[in-house]
Amino acid sequence: MNRVYEKLMKCYESFKKKVDFIPEVALILGSGLGDYAEDIKVEAELDYHELDGFPVSTVPGHQGKYIFGYVGEVPVVCMKGRVHYYEGYDISDVVLPIRLMKLMGTKVLFLTNAAGGINSSFKAGDFMLIKDHISSFIPSPLIGANIDELGVRFPDMSNVYDTKLQKVIRRTAALNDIDIQEGVYIQLTGPNYETPAEVRMCRALGADAVGMSTACEAVAANHMGMMICGISCISNMASGISPNPLSHVEVQEVADRVAPLFKKLVTESIKNISKEINS
Ligand code: HPA
Repeated sequence: MNRVYEKLMKCYESFKKKVDFIPEVALILGSGLGDYAEDIKVEAELDYHELDGFPVSTVPGHQGKYIFGYVGEVPVVCMKGRVHYYEGYDISDVVLPIRLMKLMGTKVLFLTNAAGGINSSFKAGDFMLIKDHISSFIPSPLIGANIDELGVRFPDMSNVYDTKLQKVIRRTAALNDIDIQEGVYIQLTGPNYETPAEVRMCRALGADAVGMSTACEAVAANHMGMMICGISCISNMASGISPNPLSHVEVQEVADRVAPLFKKLVTESIKNISKEINS
């Protein structure tokens, strides 16, 4: 068996032994949304350490467990903490948690992150609906022998961020009086923030926000046929746009400040997404 698939199946077997829950939506919490779990009617928790071979994060503020429960009536699995490519993991390990959530039964992947704003009409504290991404600066998680059990060798990428789900999020934001920007997310490897020249390059390439996650996860989820949506929290304007140097602490502070509104948008969007896909 393929080494990557074998590891995934091992994690899946140990999940099945420990948790009896079928989630519909998989939610990834970026910086600042770490305490979202407080809004979930929790049914079970699974520490990443309990899964043999599962990659465990080393970033401050990124704790490591799956939380199973309900957002309203919607069964969800929520990842409290994700691993990043810059931590030194193989890219196939970075996306293993996503693949595992698909095997758990989820249909929708809801990605959130903190990102630097590139589009000069954005400001720190804005939210951005992700309409598309640029992942060309990171290795594809699909490199290597194709895992036919998961998806095809050459997956189409023309509608990664599901247009129906985008509509639901837009409508949800409007109904709740929450302003939301829209744009293209670009993933760079990090962990260093960008230089001003790199930010100008990203803008010239058509990116509106920059971060160090999300796109590789979307590539793996799209490979497996998941419906995907994502929202960035613009925690800072990217380097060279803002006169101030960037610090992880400030990024976290802004993300924390807008967290209540972000949580509301995520909660209401999940409820409406579930209605949409079950109608
Ligand atoms: N660049 C990259 N990643 C980020 C940023 C940024 O400015 N802010 C939050 N995550």
